[in-house]
Amino acid sequence: MCGIVGYLGQKPSEQILLDALKTLEYRGYDSAGILTLKEREFKRFRAAGKLVNLEKKVLGQESLAHLGIAHTRWATHGPAIEKNAHPHVVGDVGIVHNGIIENYRELKAALEAQDCVFTSDTDSELVAHLLNFEIQKKLTLIEACLNVRKKLEGAYAILALSSQSLDEVVAFKQGPPLILGIGSDEFILASDLQAILPHTTQIVHFDDGDLVSVNARSKHQFYNSTDEKIEKNILTMDWSPEKAQKQTYPHFMLKEIYEQPKAVAEALKPHINLKNHEVEIQGIKDSFAETQKYFAQVERVFIVSCGTSFYGGLYGEYVLEQIGRVPVEVEVASEFRYRNPVLPPNSLVVFITQSGETADTLAALRLAKEAGVDTLSICNTPHSTIDRESDFSLYMNSGVEIGVASTKAFVSTLSVLALLGIMFGKSKKVLSAEEEQELVQSLLAVPAHIEGLLGYDAFFKEASEELSKSKGFLYLGRGALFPIAMEGALKLKELAYVHAEGYAAGEMKHGPLALIDKEMMCVVIAPQDHLYEKTISNLQEVKARGGQVISVGTVGDKNLDEMSNFFIPMPKAHWVVTPILATLPVQLMAYHLALSMGNDVDQPRNLAKSVTVE
Ligand code: M6R
Repeated sequence: MCGIVGYLGQKPSEQILLDALKTLEYRGYDSAGILTLKEREFKRFRAAGKLVNLEKKVLGQESLAHLGIAHTRWATHGPAIEKNAHPHVVGDVGIVHNGIIENYRELKAALEAQDCVFTSDTDSELVAHLLNFEIQKKLTLIEACLNVRKKLEGAYAILALSSQSLDEVVAFKQGPPLILGIGSDEFILASDLQAILPHTTQIVHFDDGDLVSVNARSKHQFYNSTDEKIEKNILTMDWSPEKAQKQTYPHFMLKEIYEQPKAVAEALKPHINLKNHEVEIQGIKDSFAETQKYFAQVERVFIVSCGTSFYGGLYGEYVLEQIGRVPVEVEVASEFRYRNPVLPPNSLVVFITQSGETADTLAALRLAKEAGVDTLSICNTPHSTIDRESDFSLYMNSGVEIGVASTKAFVSTLSVLALLGIMFGKSKKVLSAEEEQELVQSLLAVPAHIEGLLGYDAFFKEASEELSKSKGFLYLGRGALFPIAMEGALKLKELAYVHAEGYAAGEMKHGPLALIDKEMMCVVIAPQDHLYEKTISNLQEVKARGGQVISVGTVGDKNLDEMSNFFIPMPKAHWVVTPILATLPVQLMAYHLALSMGNDVDQPRNLAKSVTVE
């Protein structure tokens, strides 16, 4: 959470920093600020609320300094008001910070005992106080940062300026991501590549414990966690920044929903041999024969992730177990990392993450690596920390996802997991060639099916006012559709701010049925599969108690249509594919309900796209 950026170069920095903040705003949008340094003078702009408020303040007031740092905030310590916005300035020092200083109480108490006056409620401000103490002792900014970081516990990516050090930025990190971009006569430091790539494709990833000083003489020097000077690899990114534009769409979320046919096609593409319609997972071992051998010897799979990626993982459990006949455990990363899990040899731990930076997922990955088992990431952000640190990487290939509510990354995740299920099945020789062909054909048809389902955009726009009258929502599904019920409920919660729960339909009698009355809307996902009759019985039980029903089912199912207040037909498809198709209506429903309530669908309240703190 929080996005940080710093610029040192030949150009006026304010506009560069503002443009960079726009690409980082998904990381937090409670408040934002910029600090520039010119001729020993700091100039600071800060504003609560969205970035546009900061832009208004900066416009016409630019210092035109060539050196500056900036921040977009997701509040942890202290409310989202201007005094808590970064950058924080104390004496000769200005800083921006992403993360949480866990020992801030004791550090703050010690500083207050030395008569330091705090002007914000944040944990971050104390870093500026500590650095200023060092600068007043005539230490250089590098020396000050090397000393201060030894006192900090927790997670941090910090950029620091000093008015005693006119042409220098020092950056250091432990936990949250940080990247250095090296341009010709300029440096840009940021939490995310998207802020850097418009300026340069030459980049250096920070490892935990790294500190760098960049200066106007085009020099940069890295230090490691033991303060030794180190050389780091400069990578050249072979991809250009994807323009984060809404194009003709009113919101990024809607654009990303419409991009799902392409997202699925791109997720499948690298791993399907179109000549023989066979799955050949790339990126694990050098040859396909070795890859098959590898999957054949995996005895147990763990899938670890958070939020929407966790629901993707639950779908993976159904597919990997049923098609691949490999035992699977799925767990949220925040639990997995603290429960000392038993990870037997020949286990493969799979980490699903759109951003590749989620703090709990990253900690879980490191735990698995320490335990000595193999790790595989399914990620949408190449070069992200989780992508870099995992043993094997598969990519969602969805393209940049800006909307805080994850959409296209989810359908890509399901597609990759379906391929993994097939790969396990054929490697373990429990899936016949005919079954594989049938599955591949079904997966290849998904983009076209999704195109058709996008037609429900208009339907939910029309129905949203009526639907918004419900006091609550239950989403019901069975089998591989149960995770889609949970994902639908999460989308509605995070966007429409209404209470929604996803349940395994068979669980209704064990409690939730008591919630049913005429104001409760049940979204029942009931395609004509082997569990159809059972789900229909659950739907009848809801109807008998006066509940309202939106059903998502197989096209032509008159029976289901008649039982429902609204019926959403989907094409008949393989059970592995149906969950991908059923995702479309639940996404569009949440989008339109949120809009009808006047909510900000791209940046829902209290949330951030990338959760880089616990
Ligand atoms: O980047 P990740 O996939 O690791 O993110 C995990 C969750 O934070 C994320 O899916 C979150 O739940 C979304 N806002 C859901 O729409």
